[in-house]
Amino acid sequence: MAPKPAESAIDRSRTSYGDEGFSRYLRRAFLASAGYDDVDLDRPVIGIAVTKSDYNTCHRDMPALLESVRRGVLEAGGLPMEFPTISLGEILTSPTSMLFRNLMAMDTEEMIEALPMNGAVLLGGCDKTVPAQLMAAASTDKPVLLEVVGPMLTGSWRGQRLGACTDCRRLWGDHRGGVLDAAEITEARGELVATAGTCAVMGTASTMASLTEVLGMMLPGGATPPASSGARLRHGVLTGRRIVEMVREGGAPPRDILTRPAFENAIKVLAALGGSTNALVHLLAVARRAGIDLALEEFDTVAADVPLMVDLKPSGQLYMEDLHRSGGIPAVLKQLAGRLDLTTVGATGTRLGDLLADLPERQEWQTAITTLEEPLGPPGALAVLKGSLAPNGAVIKTSAASPHLFQHTGPAFVVDAGQDITAILDDPDTEITAEHVLVLRYSGPVAAGFPESGALPIPAKLARQGVRDMVRVSDARMSGTSYGTVVLHCAPEAAVGGPLAAVQNGDLIRLDIPARRIDLLIDETTLEQRLADLPEITPPARGWRRLYAETVLPASQGADLDFM
Ligand code: FES
Ligand code: MG
Repeated sequence: MAPKPAESAIDRSRTSYGDEGFSRYLRRAFLASAGYDDVDLDRPVIGIAVTKSDYNTCHRDMPALLESVRRGVLEAGGLPMEFPTISLGEILTSPTSMLFRNLMAMDTEEMIEALPMNGAVLLGGCDKTVPAQLMAAASTDKPVLLEVVGPMLTGSWRGQRLGACTDCRRLWGDHRGGVLDAAEITEARGELVATAGTCAVMGTASTMASLTEVLGMMLPGGATPPASSGARLRHGVLTGRRIVEMVREGGAPPRDILTRPAFENAIKVLAALGGSTNALVHLLAVARRAGIDLALEEFDTVAADVPLMVDLKPSGQLYMEDLHRSGGIPAVLKQLAGRLDLTTVGATGTRLGDLLADLPERQEWQTAITTLEEPLGPPGALAVLKGSLAPNGAVIKTSAASPHLFQHTGPAFVVDAGQDITAILDDPDTEITAEHVLVLRYSGPVAAGFPESGALPIPAKLARQGVRDMVRVSDARMSGTSYGTVVLHCAPEAAVGGPLAAVQNGDLIRLDIPARRIDLLIDETTLEQRLADLPEITPPARGWRRLYAETVLPASQGADLDFM
């Protein structure tokens, strides 16, 4: 058997009873009650963060994955110790899972520190879980590997292939437009989320899993194996084996992996994926924790020469299982190699360039991935905008927007969070045209915990006329599975006096994506006067929501708590 660590993790950090010998004695006494003897406890101890929850259907298959990781840890001579943290399921968490991302990051970081372990494997998957776990990892000195549950498989309804949740939105849009009746939309519901696993498209979960792999915090090939596949379980075993090796190699902290070149590679891959706008917020937060000074604009400049290369919804046509069958993220990296920093070293301990050298050239059957020479779309899948409506920045996913709206000037139609927005937009008496710019305010981090409400519904009467996209502008986020010409994350947000708060119905707003501008076309004096007249916002009175509202950073800085 491999040599044991100099001092067992079980003894190294101790509960403070004022008597260290007694603390050690008690630990082994209580662990003996769970069947552990000294042979177990003197091995490298690997904590495994488990986020199984009945409220998180994406993680339903996690018990099988956990068993795989445990087996890998045992095979390598380590001792797996499971521990729970908060689990954030995207769909059932109110008002938005984003409000709790930082809480989960804090929970995870503190448990990694508080519990005796030499290294950790963090099991996640659904949208906010992976960012929270990356933030926690970036904040600890113990070696950490992430492992995700993997994407769901697609379903099928009346000959249509379906997968959450771009298709959920498309079908709902058809229902609102009168194309699908109540019985049909209900029948389709049973096939939209066909299996366990994370959303089937390049939404936030898939994007963050992919970028975790690129950053080197997950072993290669980990982002794409479907939740129900043997490949997923085998990857879990590899992860369990590798974390024990990492501990034996001396246990380098995640900050050694989370370098600036690693983030720059992640930004380039994000562009090639046409990934989620949420990734900008999450990567900024992780980088900040890792001590990397990353600016919002760099998501545009660093990726300026990277076209859209992966054909997944909502930017393209296919699903995560197709990307997996096309070789997954390693195959994407292989195509992009000429644009990447190949000297980065992730959890494998091997340079990226050496990992990619072993991969075959692209084959015809790798249909989800294109080449740099014949990409699916131009560079700039994610654009960072500035202008009088968002002096500190805003974001748009151009790869999922409508080209005819890339340059558009139209009158504002303003709604605020807390209003019955659908009722307002669907009211047949509401005077609104396809030319209008829909403005949603008070949905930023401070105001509302930063919900995914930015992709406002197309007003019903316009939807029935066949309008499927309009320019929408907000301080909210949108789901990574959404699409449309939607300007997001306007900073400063309305609740802290950002210019969005000054917009009135009928004001002209100009979107100019090629010029990277979003402007409110009123004169500066009027803008200042309106902002001066705004009422104060009352923050939440107590608890986590108060701490969050009082300390959350703007979206343009990652929306972490300012003291983390
Ligand atoms: Fe969990 Fe989409 S709802 S990944
Ligand atoms: Mg989502």
